[in-house]
Amino acid sequence: MDEMEGVCVEDCTRCEALVASRSRIVNGAGPADADLLFVGEAPGAREDERGEPFVGRSGDVLDDALRNARLDRGDVRITNCVRCRPPDNRDPSTEELANCRGYLETEIDRVDPEIVVTLGKVPAEHLLQRDVAVTAEAGDVVDVEIEGTRRQVLLCVHPAATLYDRSQEDTFVDTIEKAADYTDAESGQSRLGDW
Ligand code: URA
Repeated sequence: MDEMEGVCVEDCTRCEALVASRSRIVNGAGPADADLLFVGEAPGAREDERGEPFVGRSGDVLDDALRNARLDRGDVRITNCVRCRPPDNRDPSTEELANCRGYLETEIDRVDPEIVVTLGKVPAEHLLQRDVAVTAEAGDVVDVEIEGTRRQVLLCVHPAATLYDRSQEDTFVDTIEKAADYTDAESGQSRLGDW
C-alpha cells in the first residue's frame, strides 16, 4: 500500500458550511517522512487561494522562525485540523473538527513524526482533548495517545499571535527552536547551515 494513501483528501462534503465557503481542499504539505509535523487550525484566505497551509502572513512568521532555527520549510510537514476554509475565518466548530479528525489522524500515522507541533489553541485542545492555556503552556511537550499510538506533542502559540502581541514573539521563536532539536535527535536530518 502507498504509505501516503488517504493523506491527500481529494473530495469531501461532510461539512455543509465549509463546502460552501471553500474554493478547494487544503491538504498538508511537506515530506511524507518529516521529523516535524506542524498542525494549525484551518486554512485562511491565502491558503484557500493557493491550496497550501500557512502561505499567508502567519506562514511568513512561521517561515522566519524556521529559518531562525536553521530549518527549511521544505523539510517539515505542515497541515491543519480542518482542511477547508471556514466562512469569515471563524474557528472550526466541534462538528467540523470531528468530521476532519480522521484525515489528520491518518496523516499523523503515515508521517510518523518525531514530534507533532500544535500551532495555537484549537489544534492543542483538539489533540490533547482538554482545555489548554496555550501561552502559559507553550514549550511544553505532552505525551498523548492518538489513534492508539503514543505521540509527543509540543505546544506552541499560533504564529498570528506574534503579529498582534509582540510579547509572544520570543515564546514562539523559542518553541520553534525547541522543535528543531527533535530533527537532530534521532534521524540526523540536516539543518540549513550544516552544509
Ligand atoms: N492559520 C492556520 O491555522 N492555518 C493555516 O493554514 C493558515 C493560517
